[in-house]
Amino acid sequence: MMIDIMKDCAREAGTMMVKHGSLQIEAKGANDYVTDVDKEVQNMLIEKLGQAVPDAFFIAEEKKNNKLPDGEGFVIDPIDGTLNFMNGIPCSAVCIAHVTDKEVLDAVVYNPFRDEMFWASKEQGAFLNDQKIHIADRPIKKALVLTEDTWQGHKEIIRNYAVGARILGSAELAICFVASGRAGGYISQSLHMWDYAAGKLILEEAGGILLEKDGSHACLLGPNEIIACAPDQQDIFIAMCKEAEGR
Ligand code: IPD
Ligand code: CA
Ligand code: CA
Repeated sequence: MMIDIMKDCAREAGTMMVKHGSLQIEAKGANDYVTDVDKEVQNMLIEKLGQAVPDAFFIAEEKKNNKLPDGEGFVIDPIDGTLNFMNGIPCSAVCIAHVTDKEVLDAVVYNPFRDEMFWASKEQGAFLNDQKIHIADRPIKKALVLTEDTWQGHKEIIRNYAVGARILGSAELAICFVASGRAGGYISQSLHMWDYAAGKLILEEAGGILLEKDGSHACLLGPNEIIACAPDQQDIFIAMCKEAEGR
């Protein structure tokens, strides 16, 4: 099955991340870096997944990309959380979304430093390793809300609604932490498709929703500021985004 191939690829990529030698680091832009391991992982994933699905398209962070096409392919972030990875902070993940006609059918987000494989297949539920996962069932007042340092909102906004705000530095892991109930929600800004494609299916299969800040459903074609939360708590998150805009 495709999900098993994807998990094997993610594990192989994870071994490359854990066992790397000294890193070669390049700046791509302000606050944006790539290492030789990002590129090697991406090459390996494209080669192996391309053998499994010979006509597949690939959208992947460390290559030039066209628009997301129809048909079957993969959206890949070889390492989400590169800044963490470069600095020895064990919070980064290999992310693969198997997509057909712009819909994610299978997804894996694997953090090799904790051997945590978040995964889902459409209408089959979401899992962390072998355990089924579900979003949290608690009021936001008692939950942590995850965000990004790029979010225009101030942490005070989140602290007024939730028990506290945290920044993980990996959008995909943040979405998976909402899916598994570790966090009550996630608010972000300036994401690319590969930062949330896999997490979107894992979240939805765990009972959550991925929204744009105006409350419409997020698709792969370009939300900028997205919210991951429980369906019955979306109004609170939309209110936080409105408050952030008003500042
Ligand atoms: C980044 C991470 C980070 C988010 C950035 C992303 P990268 O991805 O997901 O949490 O704030 O917007 O670009 O560069 O580590 O793959
Ligand atoms: Ca990323
Ligand atoms: Ca990346």
